[in-house]
Amino acid sequence: MASAGMVNADPKQSEERLKHESVALPKALDKGSMCDEIVGSSGALQKALRLVSKVAPTDATVLITGETGTGKELVARAIHRRSHRSSRAFVCVNCAAVPRDLIASELFGHEKGSFTGALQRRLGRFELAEGGTIFLDEVGELPLETQMALLRVLQEHEFERVGGTRSIQTNVRVVAATNRNLQAAIAAGTFRSDLFYRLNVFPIEMPPLRERQEDIPLLVDYFIDRCARDAGKNIRGINKKSLDLLQSYPWPGNIRELQNVIERSVIMCETDSFSLDKTWLA
Ligand SMILES: Nc1ncnc2c1ncn2[C@@H]1O[C@H](COP(=O)(O)OP(=O)(O)OP(=O)(O)O)[C@@H](O)[C@H]1O
Ligand SMILES: [Mg+2]
Repeated sequence: MASAGMVNADPKQSEERLKHESVALPKALDKGSMCDEIVGSSGALQKALRLVSKVAPTDATVLITGETGTGKELVARAIHRRSHRSSRAFVCVNCAAVPRDLIASELFGHEKGSFTGALQRRLGRFELAEGGTIFLDEVGELPLETQMALLRVLQEHEFERVGGTRSIQTNVRVVAATNRNLQAAIAAGTFRSDLFYRLNVFPIEMPPLRERQEDIPLLVDYFIDRCARDAGKNIRGINKKSLDLLQSYPWPGNIRELQNVIERSVIMCETDSFSLDKTWLA
């Protein structure tokens, strides 16, 4: 997106003029602020990205926390990509999306006949991730008995398939994420504290977007560029009023919500200047 004029900071500027004025956005790509497409130059984000760079080359278990849409999965992928495991598999498991009675088989596999419906041996995600990284998303949702088996993997690097008797050795790096308060889950008796400490070897907290408003212009530029390319449109600027709206909104859905609002606006946009319908900011 090319800059289409500078902003006059005079507070007496009329509403009408504001509406049509285009604002120059900082270029996400020029600023050297992209780390595996993780856009942003705020201190809060840079602090998290420094932790990513430090921990990625090691085999340490990482626990990524943060509200929904703050980039936890993006960071997990970046850790894998910058590790010596990058040529091996990155396997994602959303622990909340798998039915509770199937999660153990999903993670560790099962032997033929181990339960009704287990018609043949099936490899679990840990075996599929061998040599690589497993990303356990929403790890706070794991049932207690599966937490026990995961603890064994982290401590002894071994597990058994469901219905199996043989221990299988594993070399998989574990990266976990949660948007739940695990301390509260421990207090409520639904999450094992020993597993928490094993996962929390290297914690990374993703800051919510409302605490890094200075990233919004960069993200807006990045998403407008991407969406405009997808939509085959040429968008050259954004008006000041729209940018102010985007920067003052608290973004409860964080970057995912920002991305969706921009995609929708780009689809609706009929000129070469990006503008926003404020009713979309709920
Ligand atoms: N800093 C960033 N730069 C560019 N895109 C980002 C950034 N952070 C997040 N995104 C994008 O926002 C969306 C949400 O990110 P992601 O899925 O990693 O969030 P999450 O924290 O895992 O959310 P949830 O808890 O809901 O699973 C993705 O499309 C991701 O690519
Ligand atoms: Mg996620």
